Amino acid sequence: MSSTTTLPTFSFNTTAEEVANVFADEIRGKTVLITGTSLKGIGFETARVIAKYAKLLIIAGYNEERLKLSEDAIKKETPSANIYRLTVDLSSLASVRKAAAEVNALPDPLHVLINNAAATRTGFALQLTSDNIELQYATNHVGPWLFTNLLVPKLLASSSSTEGFTPRVIFLSSDTHYFGTTRGSMRWLGSYELVSYSRRRLRPVAHIKPTGRPHGVPMSFPAKKAGTLQSCGVEHV
Ligand SMILES: NC(=O)c1ccc[n+]([C@@H]2O[C@H](COP(=O)([O-])OP(=O)(O)OC[C@H]3O[C@@H](n4cnc5c(N)ncnc54)[C@H](OP(=O)(O)O)[C@@H]3O)[C@@H](O)[C@H]2O)c1
Repeated sequence: MSSTTTLPTFSFNTTAEEVANVFADEIRGKTVLITGTSLKGIGFETARVIAKYAKLLIIAGYNEERLKLSEDAIKKETPSANIYRLTVDLSSLASVRKAAAEVNALPDPLHVLINNAAATRTGFALQLTSDNIELQYATNHVGPWLFTNLLVPKLLASSSSTEGFTPRVIFLSSDTHYFGTTRGSMRWLGSYELVSYSRRRLRPVAHIKPTGRPHGVPMSFPAKKAGTLQSCGVEHV
């Protein structure tokens, strides 16, 4: 899209299709990787509309059955969609390293990374991962951050293989990050699950906001403000 193009105004009523249609020319020919694409989630809706135009869509999640269900649903709507299923458990550093190596070994360039996945349904008790990291912190921040860093060289390389293109990384956050604190006492005395979620959603914002361009790749972090979307995670709450 040229810098002189006037974008339409998006609102809470704008559909995913409408946004993808506006950016269709930018999505065409690109490889987009999105994490957390199970049916009914924000990630699935994003993947579903991007699949209409992308050259390759990589959908990533830790449950192979749910990944296949998402692929089937997207292909039912867009039979020509080119989809690659990537198994990654973002709460495990070993799994993140393995998945990043798999992506780096693909012959296709990587243009856009959307870090959408998050542990939104962890329950009320403190849980530690096999790396001894609190589960939501591992899944919502440490895992995606490591994944991103391991993919940065491939993202940067896409700008040379696709003339004039600037690679992008997007971190989904949440306006619940306003309730979170990075240290000290919790500002909001809700359930452990929600307090923890708020803190973990603050991390990407606090970590990335100072520069917005770590490693020379523009990174953005939409802390969704338009309201609550009825996803699997929200149904659980
Ligand atoms: N819904 C809202 O109103 C809202 C508001 C503000 C921000 N957000 C943000 O938007 C994003 C999507 O939210 P959502 O409501 O669509 O959430 P969701 O329905 O709970 O979906 C989360 C996705 O992340 C995946 N995931 C969870 N743990 C994972 C792991 N260890 N490794 C890999 N993938 C994992 C889930 O896979 P499984 O299904 O296989 O568990 C699922 O596909 C999140 O970053 C959330 O913080 C949502």
